[in-house]
Amino acid sequence: MISRRLTLGLLAAAISTPLRATTRPAVVVHRSPTCGCCGAWASYLRRAGFPVTIVNEDDLAPVKLRAGVPERLQSCHTAFIDGYVVEGHVPIEAIEKMLLSKPPILGIAVPDMPGGSPGMEVLGAKPDPFKVMSFAKGGAQDVFIDYPNGFSLPR
Ligand code: CU
Ligand code: CU
Repeated sequence: MISRRLTLGLLAAAISTPLRATTRPAVVVHRSPTCGCCGAWASYLRRAGFPVTIVNEDDLAPVKLRAGVPERLQSCHTAFIDGYVVEGHVPIEAIEKMLLSKPPILGIAVPDMPGGSPGMEVLGAKPDPFKVMSFAKGGAQDVFIDYPNGFSLPR
């Protein structure tokens, strides 16, 4: 009877294990190995179910150049998702908007590193306002999502 009870127990455990989100596209994050906030942004994506691979780079400039990230929009890390570029501390809702609407752009970016953006949380500090910008081949840039009051993770 012990083995039967054990089998039932294992079965129950298997059933109650939540299904992993498998529909999120893979993300490759290029970053400097010494960048802590890059790791924090990668963890933020992982927590939401994105499979994240991190590539450490001694020099990110060639990566950003190849990705077509305009100099004005550059931040710390450069990520690739589903054929698009995601530069800097971009919130997931902006990534989802891009993946759903599939606009004819190269990617989106949060330039610099605004306080309060995902991976740049400062406990107790008021988040900085920022804009997620889109950039396209040929240099066109546009506001993709405006965060006039900054961004804070839901708790
Ligand atoms: Cu950063
Ligand atoms: Cu970063």
